[in-house]
Amino acid sequence: MLNRKILVTSALPYANGPIHLGHLVEYIQTDIWVRFQKQRGHQCYYVCADDTHGTPIMLRADSENISPETLIARVAQEHLADFTEFSVAFDNYHSTHSEENREFSSLIYKRLRDAGHINSRTITQAYDPIKLMFLPDRFIKGECPKCGAADQYGDSCEACGATYSPTDLKNPVSALSGEKPIAKDSVHYFFNLGNFADMLQAWTSAGHLQAEVCNKLSEWLENGLQEWDISRDAPYFGFEIPDAPGKYFYVWLDAPIGYMASFKNLCDKQGLDFDAFWTKESDTELYHFIGKDIIYFHALFWPAMLSGAQFRTPSAIFAHGFLTVNGEKMSKSRGTFIKARTYLEHLNPEYLRYYFAAKLNAGVDDIDLNFEDFTQRVNSDLVGKVVNIASRCSSFIHKRFEGELAATCSEPDLFAQFVDANSKIAEYYEAREFGKAMREIMALADQANQYIDEKKPWVIAKETDRDAELQQVCSMGINLFRLLVVYLQPVLPVLAEQAYQFLNIAPQAWPQATTPLLQHRINPFAPLMTRVEADKIQAILSASQSDLQAAASTPPPAVKHCEAIAPTIEFDDFAKIDLRVAKILKAEAVAGAEKLLQLTVDIGDETRNIFAGIKSAYAPEDLEGKFTVVVANLAPRKMRFGVSEGMVLAAGPGGKDIWIIAPELGATAGMRVK
Ligand code: MSP
Ligand code: ZN
Repeated sequence: MLNRKILVTSALPYANGPIHLGHLVEYIQTDIWVRFQKQRGHQCYYVCADDTHGTPIMLRADSENISPETLIARVAQEHLADFTEFSVAFDNYHSTHSEENREFSSLIYKRLRDAGHINSRTITQAYDPIKLMFLPDRFIKGECPKCGAADQYGDSCEACGATYSPTDLKNPVSALSGEKPIAKDSVHYFFNLGNFADMLQAWTSAGHLQAEVCNKLSEWLENGLQEWDISRDAPYFGFEIPDAPGKYFYVWLDAPIGYMASFKNLCDKQGLDFDAFWTKESDTELYHFIGKDIIYFHALFWPAMLSGAQFRTPSAIFAHGFLTVNGEKMSKSRGTFIKARTYLEHLNPEYLRYYFAAKLNAGVDDIDLNFEDFTQRVNSDLVGKVVNIASRCSSFIHKRFEGELAATCSEPDLFAQFVDANSKIAEYYEAREFGKAMREIMALADQANQYIDEKKPWVIAKETDRDAELQQVCSMGINLFRLLVVYLQPVLPVLAEQAYQFLNIAPQAWPQATTPLLQHRINPFAPLMTRVEADKIQAILSASQSDLQAAASTPPPAVKHCEAIAPTIEFDDFAKIDLRVAKILKAEAVAGAEKLLQLTVDIGDETRNIFAGIKSAYAPEDLEGKFTVVVANLAPRKMRFGVSEGMVLAAGPGGKDIWIIAPELGATAGMRVK
């Protein structure tokens, strides 16, 4: 077998949310394929990373009162923990907010620019005059231009399904500040995709894509290629564009470059040859596994960017469909939006790996997780058919033959048939027809069980002079079980490892010329997998429901860093504010919040709990005993860390330069300030 060099990626999950079962379709699919390639002896690397840039991540960090860097570091840990427990074994898991990615993004941009593929011009967009930022479509709300439904997002109406542009909305407001957006000009940078029309025409019909995907692409190509807006204005969490201060790469520009960055990081750690995989002359294979929602980015932008920047293009893009649960789109209110973590708290991850494998094929159809079907398949295939063979046969081997298998193989033809099946199963794995591979393996399991049922070792065992036969039959059963496990290893790595321990053998390569285990001592059998219990599934669904309730009771993100000039107010408005001198009794840091201090203050007639964003300027111990001025009649506000019952007055641009208002002479707690 030719030794192939293969680089494989899964799409980079966004760093602003947890991994859910929908994501896992992709990561499990990719992991199975990679494990299969490795088991075949190929040199195969699987890299991924968190996709960390963009407005939602910036705002999410803001609402949690932490820096984007802190947010993405925490989420990366959570993502990796989830993947690891599902046995998704990346060779490297990196971040798009990395030095490698900054360098490759700049390099690719500069090469594209120097080759004349970047234009710039001024465009007009909606701008939030309070938050001082341009608003992505999703952050503009208003009345649907078609049906008039209130509170619809800037891209589509949930009431009537219409799609439109945010400028069509009636009475639009910013979802961040509630303010009416204004139209504002700014210079944007564009990648001229049209320059690649011929290249893409050729590339998309050269066997790199699935048939269904090809059709979709010819539609897009026929409709003409639009230039792609690759810049965003500050404030934006991302990389600044090299020759354009205040302009940042749009998250989708640097996200796929994150594949290269993660691989570069791996190369540096392991001394691998990066260029061998990425130069135009490369003879290695490069595959991207993605969901069908991001085909445009991977099958048009990405190959065009790579080719325009003198890098190799992918060998193939493998798109898959979306996960539905019990026949419907995953839904938070039905409790079917299931987080990876919630599943892990209740069920064995290998059940899901097997179930997805049984359902996956090479196409882009959606796949359904039906919990009845899930239970039935796992119980009947894995527990009932596969594991059962080992438990049926091993007890006699231990009780009667001190754990030793027979010295000869009584059914060489049957064994040979199991080995020969390897090429068909391998073809299915290679072609991502995992469902077909599983059916092939289960057909072999049926045959193995049939063999045992016919030979009836439990009957033979009762007859004193048939010892040799008993050992032969049970050894045969064990040898067939071993091959089943070898074939299932890409899907069930944990079960395989435990089975190899029981069989007392090393991890197995793909069987080509495998011979039976003879006169070989096996270890005592321990149950390899138990049945799926219905109450565990119920527990997952109810936990997912309560996730929803918890989410609903958290307040909407607070609007912060609002440095806008406030409009003029009347004296009466000012008079409504109850300003009081307060004595700071206690000040302490808030676990998990970067900018906040929790203050206990005496305002004369009572003590209050107040959260103040002044941690960058004051150490808690410096504040205790001091006086300050607070707004005492501000409505209590529920924050992520507790309720804030007032506001401390402070001034300054931020960072170290924040000063609380501190009356020093003759102040007493409770004094009114005006
Ligand atoms: N960050 C982008 C990808 C950048 S790749 C350079 C992104 N992230 S994502 O977190 O939304 O999705 C990651 C992958 O999971 C995508 O391939 C997406 O299609 C897939 N899935 C997300 N939800 C899914 C389902 N419900 N079902 C199947 N796959 C799903 O897109
Ligand atoms: Zn509508």
